[in-house]
Amino acid sequence: MNEISFKLVDKIERDHALSLDEYELLVKSLTPSLASYIAKKAIKARKRIYGDRVFIRGLIEISNICKNDCYYCGIRRSNKNARRYRLSKEDIISCCGEGYKLGFRTFVLQGGEDMYYTDSVLCDIVSAIKSAHPDCAVTLSMGERSRQSYKALYDSGADRYLLRHESADKEHYALLHPHEMSYDNRFRCLYDLREIGYQVGCGFMVGSPYQTPAHIASDLKFIESFKPDMCGIGPFIPHHDTPFAAMSAGTLELTCFLLSVIRLIYPNVLLPSTTALGTIDKSGREKGILSGANVVMPNLSPPSVRKKYELYDNKICTGEEAASGIEQLKDKIKLIGYKIVTERGDIIKK
Ligand code: 5AD
Repeated sequence: MNEISFKLVDKIERDHALSLDEYELLVKSLTPSLASYIAKKAIKARKRIYGDRVFIRGLIEISNICKNDCYYCGIRRSNKNARRYRLSKEDIISCCGEGYKLGFRTFVLQGGEDMYYTDSVLCDIVSAIKSAHPDCAVTLSMGERSRQSYKALYDSGADRYLLRHESADKEHYALLHPHEMSYDNRFRCLYDLREIGYQVGCGFMVGSPYQTPAHIASDLKFIESFKPDMCGIGPFIPHHDTPFAAMSAGTLELTCFLLSVIRLIYPNVLLPSTTALGTIDKSGREKGILSGANVVMPNLSPPSVRKKYELYDNKICTGEEAASGIEQLKDKIKLIGYKIVTERGDIIKK
């Protein structure tokens, strides 16, 4: 069993692909020694392309108002306890100005599916950011929209779009989302974004409710075929006002392992070590980087709203998790042998 799993790691390193059954077997075979074996290879693959550089993105959480009701998410519309907020254009522009001074050259605008941000409102915000900071990339993470809307946003200057696919298994997807949300539409969005010209990010939660190794195998197979420019994976962490209460054991280790797997599937991918990883373990973010991640996304939202953008319990948003703690973050990253760089950090494709 063990022998086979090490051979599977060699195979992904060589072919950047496995069969569904092989991915499933690999996930089931996780042991500390397999994890360190694959992490070494993931680090080597990343080094060849990105050296010791770690990219930073300033995350601006523009609204926690959401029309969706995803069972796992703290800002789902049924959560009557959430204190709702939304940032104005001026708020957002001022966050970017502050971020720029701190060295950020990518701004990620993330929010719930808040109908206030119509195309004209959002296009206006994007073009204002781009004209104030033409040397910066704007990434949107605003959920499912029409192709036409994605096109308008792209034309107004948005460079990248993050939309986690959440689960590549249709039945599993349906267990995480109410009926009115459609798996097909989610993937339609991802393919539209790609065709329009965005750098596109997909991703999923590790240890989400009902998730099995077979589901993770489907996620990996999807990543292998879609080759996203960015891939956001992080541990599922329960939120006390949602129906999903428990977190499964070993999620930290599994997340790090999957970061290594994804790095080997697509060595060029931009892979964040997520806030959720930093939330479940005090050196989670460093562990993510040591498993193959090469992006961190400190929080650039106004301090007064950070706690309200609560997708899960106990989200960290101070110290080096805050954009203003960038110096601390730089020191921590340096201690593990990497270097935070202040450049746009586009994907390198050779
Ligand atoms: N735990 C971890 N991640 C979560 N997300 C939403 N709720 C949770 C949770 N409870 C993730 C989803 C979403 C991204 C913005 O945050 O994958 O796409």
